[in-house]
Amino acid sequence: MRAAIISERNAPPQVREFNEPQAQDGAVLIDVDTAGLGGWDVRGAYRLGVEYPCVIRGEGVGRAPDGRRVYFGERSVLPYGAWAERTLVPQAEVWNVPDDVDDKTAISMGIAATGAIVPLEKAAIQKGEKVLVLGATGTLGQIALQLARGMGAGKVVGAARSQAALGSLKSRGIADEVVTLGGSDDVEALKDAGDGGFDVVLDLVCGQPLLTSLKATNWGARIITIGTGAGRQLNLDIADLLFRNLSCIGTGQRPPADREQIWLRLLKIAREQQIHVDYLDFTLDQAAEAWAAQVNGPHAKITATIRR
Ligand SMILES: NC(=O)c1ccc[n+]([C@@H]2O[C@H](COP(=O)([O-])OP(=O)(O)OC[C@H]3O[C@@H](n4cnc5c(N)ncnc54)[C@H](OP(=O)(O)O)[C@@H]3O)[C@@H](O)[C@H]2O)c1
Repeated sequence: MRAAIISERNAPPQVREFNEPQAQDGAVLIDVDTAGLGGWDVRGAYRLGVEYPCVIRGEGVGRAPDGRRVYFGERSVLPYGAWAERTLVPQAEVWNVPDDVDDKTAISMGIAATGAIVPLEKAAIQKGEKVLVLGATGTLGQIALQLARGMGAGKVVGAARSQAALGSLKSRGIADEVVTLGGSDDVEALKDAGDGGFDVVLDLVCGQPLLTSLKATNWGARIITIGTGAGRQLNLDIADLLFRNLSCIGTGQRPPADREQIWLRLLKIAREQQIHVDYLDFTLDQAAEAWAAQVNGPHAKITATIRR
């Protein structure tokens, strides 16, 4: 079969022939139609302990041997993954896609939307509260801003570095206000955008943006940590937590049956609330270009057509 293969640490993927996965008890062979790519696939590919060669992991939609159209997350049996004509996925991670849901929606409501809704629900947004999303221009950020509004937030603000991508969030009404980080006074810029301070910070990047945002929070604010693209180590002045009575909450992991229920709920929310996600579409043969686009911050969900 044809597959996008990573042959060593830090090597970009190459599309070539690769051994087909064989049927295994407790796992489902899937003919892949559409694959997705996210920041976690790119970073995870070069972690210690990964064995090469391997297929790009990703999530996807395809057909099970009994004809069912199914979604599967980024948990293919190693060394397989979504960026190949066929993959092998543990049964519990293979979920039926409703007929009225297209492949790209099934994928964007998977890892990214689950990564947004779980922390937002933990934050227990009260009606009218102000919500800041750090790293708002990516897939998860775009979805989080829209979900937060649906949960009753009074003002949703997106912060990141790309002025153009932030401008697009504002012009389309996805964010009420945006802040381009890296200016002369990011704390003041955030405070201005939050009319004094935020009640909830959804942190997709950590690092300096998180430290800066703490100074633009209200008493009792909830900080939810989701991603670490701007660095995992913090030189934190604990006074920033102490004197505002802040709570910091991690997102954690959930068993597959729970994630399936959350995904089904998200498919319904996506339809009812008309959640909008920007996409960048590729083919399997363009895997290296898709990979480079993800590394450079695509400000969109990357998907690829696998079976023509
Ligand atoms: N915990 C979970 O369950 C879970 C689930 C899914 C995803 N995640 C994590 O959540 C994060 C977001 O996912 P995603 O798919 O939206 O990723 P993404 O497409 O890479 O988007 C992240 C955004 O953060 C911004 N950013 C990156 N570095 C930054 C920095 N130093 N300062 C400010 N902004 C920065 C980028 O925008 P600009 O270019 O505009 O700065 C980018 O658009 C990732 O780290 C992912 O691994 C966690």
